Amino acid sequence: MGKPMFYINGEFVDENNALISVMDHGFLYGDGVFDALRVHNGRLFQLDAHMNRLYDSARIIDLPVPLDKEEFKKIVMETVRRSGYQDCYVRPQVTRGIGSLGHDPGTCKESSIIVYVTPTPVLKKERSIRVIISSYRRPPAFILPPESKTTHYVNNILAKMEARKRGADDAILLDIRGFVSEGCAWNIFLVKNNRVATSSISSSILRGITRDGVIHLLKEMNIPVEERDITVSELFTADEIFGTGTGSGISPVIEINGRKVGDGRSGSITNEIENKFNEFINETGVSVYE
Ligand SMILES: Cc1ncc(COP(=O)(O)O)c(C=O)c1O
Repeated sequence: MGKPMFYINGEFVDENNALISVMDHGFLYGDGVFDALRVHNGRLFQLDAHMNRLYDSARIIDLPVPLDKEEFKKIVMETVRRSGYQDCYVRPQVTRGIGSLGHDPGTCKESSIIVYVTPTPVLKKERSIRVIISSYRRPPAFILPPESKTTHYVNNILAKMEARKRGADDAILLDIRGFVSEGCAWNIFLVKNNRVATSSISSSILRGITRDGVIHLLKEMNIPVEERDITVSELFTADEIFGTGTGSGISPVIEINGRKVGDGRSGSITNEIENKFNEFINETGVSVYE
């Protein structure tokens, strides 16, 4: 039960009235940032972490957020409350705002603040995924800072389309040096001899909130975990691989470029971490309706 609800520059509106100007530089030039959260059983998961990342994303691209962080959190909570959803997707977004044609942000008077609360998008057909290694690479910080979750997703979209054309569900992108970076919208972990590794922030990744949660849980479980450079050969020789993301949760990767990962099924550490992560979701989160 519930209905999509939006907040746009000071007003709560339904889907039919959720309109922004075609002169908003977020629409014209992808000049904006966003974050993506989920509500599980009426509880907003990792609100602080996502809002901190949103403000950091904005700082990286020098985008003013004309709203105090605590105020913004209250607006996010209120938009969810007005939707009535117990389980949903929440997307706070800040764009450069309305300006003239021409990408100069100097013509934009004030950033736009938008919150979307919608049903959770279905990002995968099955729990496990088959992937390819994309011919597109994640951009390094001197091209487009990957630590900022900007609204500029064409790189990820091209990789996703390539994956679909090659009959896979998703793609792994390498960084500019040829080390493993991340999936189209998820971070990557591999397991070898009961040790876990994930690409470090020097591999052009978005530092995922799910990734941070999984690293924390692995440490609690006394499973060794390293953040470091990962080679493509390590992917081909891994016992298990899984992806992590807000939208897709924990995704066992069972095939890469047509080759089986391990025995071609979700592995035991992947299963264990998925269970722990689901417990973590149920135990934490800010209650929206109380
Ligand atoms: C490029 C990219 N990497 C990683 C992630 C995973 O981040 P999180 O766990 O915070 O959802 C996302 C999430 O949307 C993403 O877009």
